[in-house]
Amino acid sequence: MTEVTDPQPALVDCVEARPPLSPERCDALTRDILRVKKQVNAVILAHNYQVAEIQDVADYVGDSLGLAQQAARTTADVIVFAGVHFMAETAKILNPNKIVVLPDKDAGCSLEESCPGPKLKELQETNPNFYTISYINCSAAVKALSDVICTSGNAVKIVNHSPKDRDLLFVPDENLGAWVMEQTGRKMHLWKGNCYAHMEFTHANVTRIRRLHPQAPLVAHPECTQAVRMLADVVCSTERMIDYCKKSPASAFIIVTEADMVHRLRKECPGKEFIRVALSNCACNECKFMKMNTLEKLYECMANLHPRVEMSPEIIARARLPIERMLEISARA
Ligand code: 13P
Ligand code: SF4
Repeated sequence: MTEVTDPQPALVDCVEARPPLSPERCDALTRDILRVKKQVNAVILAHNYQVAEIQDVADYVGDSLGLAQQAARTTADVIVFAGVHFMAETAKILNPNKIVVLPDKDAGCSLEESCPGPKLKELQETNPNFYTISYINCSAAVKALSDVICTSGNAVKIVNHSPKDRDLLFVPDENLGAWVMEQTGRKMHLWKGNCYAHMEFTHANVTRIRRLHPQAPLVAHPECTQAVRMLADVVCSTERMIDYCKKSPASAFIIVTEADMVHRLRKECPGKEFIRVALSNCACNECKFMKMNTLEKLYECMANLHPRVEMSPEIIARARLPIERMLEISARA
């Protein structure tokens, strides 16, 4: 039998390699953030992929669905969105009269980039029977052209509730779309977009880690390719990963998603081990867009109430309907 070794890849500007904020600087910024938060009556919403120090100061940390639900029900005057741009946009669409700020307005998403509104419109015009289901990782312009929105946490439910007599068009993630087709048995036309960060996981690098830790359940995000998903014990959204690892009797898990997911997992599942997949050039897998946010930028956006998310009232009105439809279907038993 060939012995499997685990060579440590070189660290290239990633979570492992970046110098951490000093504890003193981190504490001072955290204190300032909490002070400004009170002054302006803000709520801080953070995605599971944010750096640890942002997650630790947030009021709520979660997946895209949980964050949209929190945004829909907040009574705060200011929403501070520590995530990527489309997430802050969703919060603004649900709260047109509130101020929504984000640490870095250039924090985009490869899925959002892959699907420009005019291109989607062109495709929709080829088939009037299309029913467009858009993954929340898309622009407000794409949301405005959609019948319903979904997240990785509710995509199966949303597709199961879609009209049977319509041709389903799923945008922009072909991997999530393919996984949903497997789960629901519904055929869908898939837009050819993907998450560049999840595409870094391959059958080869995931198999290698699996051989090294044969007892550890493999937990993968549905943005991974089918070649990776087929190796997984469970495929789910980032929030369900927390739930699965909490409830599982296993003591170690292989986590096939963005690197900072393990921060919350370690916090909420003390005593359990979370293993990341080593890629070719680093020991972790970060989303470069999520990592544009830092604790300093979080403080600055709150202190200056800038940069703000702004959209035309027309786009807000049109994009709101499919988001509300998603929230309503999601709340059904
Ligand atoms: P969820 O956290 O909703 O599973 O989505 C992952 C993601 O890639 C967000 O950009
Ligand atoms: Fe987009 Fe992928 Fe980054 Fe999520 S992890 S924000 S899908 S690029």
